[in-house]
Amino acid sequence: MGVGIIGLGKYVPEKVLTNHDLESVLDTTDEWIRSRTGIEARHIAADDENTSHMAIKATQIAIDNAGIKPEQIGLILVATVSPDQGFPSVACQLTEHFGIQCAAMDIAAACSGFIYGLVTAQQFLENNSYEYVLVVGVEKLSKVTDWNDRNTAILFGDGACAAVMTKVSEGRGILASELGADGSGGKHLYLNEENHIAMNGREVFKFAVRQMGESAVQVLEKAGLQKEDCDFLIPHQANIRIMEAARERLNLPEEKMSKTVHKYGNTSAASIGLSLAEELEQGKIKDDDIVVLVGFGGGLTWGAVTIRWGK
Ligand code: COA
Repeated sequence: MGVGIIGLGKYVPEKVLTNHDLESVLDTTDEWIRSRTGIEARHIAADDENTSHMAIKATQIAIDNAGIKPEQIGLILVATVSPDQGFPSVACQLTEHFGIQCAAMDIAAACSGFIYGLVTAQQFLENNSYEYVLVVGVEKLSKVTDWNDRNTAILFGDGACAAVMTKVSEGRGILASELGADGSGGKHLYLNEENHIAMNGREVFKFAVRQMGESAVQVLEKAGLQKEDCDFLIPHQANIRIMEAARERLNLPEEKMSKTVHKYGNTSAASIGLSLAEELEQGKIKDDDIVVLVGFGGGLTWGAVTIRWGK
């Protein structure tokens, strides 16, 4: 048997903040942001809309799409670096909302968190601990963004994704995975004492270009596949230039890489699942396709999975 995703959900808040909106409050231009990052706009949660609220919305869609009831979930894993509070975790808040009791915890692996969640879920499903595991990636980065810092304020956005995972047919689902972390790079991207994102953009950029390409190639090789077997690439939506480097490493044509960064910005743990859900909605990923998800983030962390899509 394999282990795969049988239902996905995504949610972004209604309010859109464009580059032009930022021009009026920061020393920046739409042209600079577009050309350096590919970002045109991002969605920002309302003051009274917290991380858990967005997680609930994406989860409801994912369980409806999976055709299961909340009480069938045995484990909830929520990847986030912007929870409502230190504890209780967002995962625990989900159990309360859905009126269930099950194992529940948050994962702090920054933008790689959703991949860490998928791979952790896979272990519990393969060893028969649970029948269904819910993996959520959610961020309200707007509350940890320093809106006076043009180096970071232009990059981030809010949103959520959720995936229901269970056993699928042999040869389907997750074929290979790769997770990693190197704390020596932690100083390049972190939450500072004011609880704001602090970043050395150039260092993160160099790391990301190298790591995304390497992880994508390795996770295909681990699955016994070649670059040309990849049907679709879902990279972490941090910066179009970083994403393009990964796509070129796999020799993929443009239409085979997911791109949502222009409208959502970098939504950290939500970004990969948001993009995956969107590509599925648009019919771009088909049964039996080989899909590579790859991400990097604060930690520094990285992660990738090769999935053969379908049940
Ligand atoms: N608007 C206008 N100018 C800006 C600016 C902004 N928002 N932000 C920075 N600048 C300026 C800089 O001050 C610098 O000026 P200087 O040359 O006078 O010092 C100049 O633009 C170039 O800065 P540089 O850092 O070389 O730009 P870059 O091409 O590396 O792009 C990032 C900057 C942040 C877009 C890029 O480094 C990046 O994307 N890094 C990775 C960040 C990331 O993905 N973080 C999240 C990881 S999960």
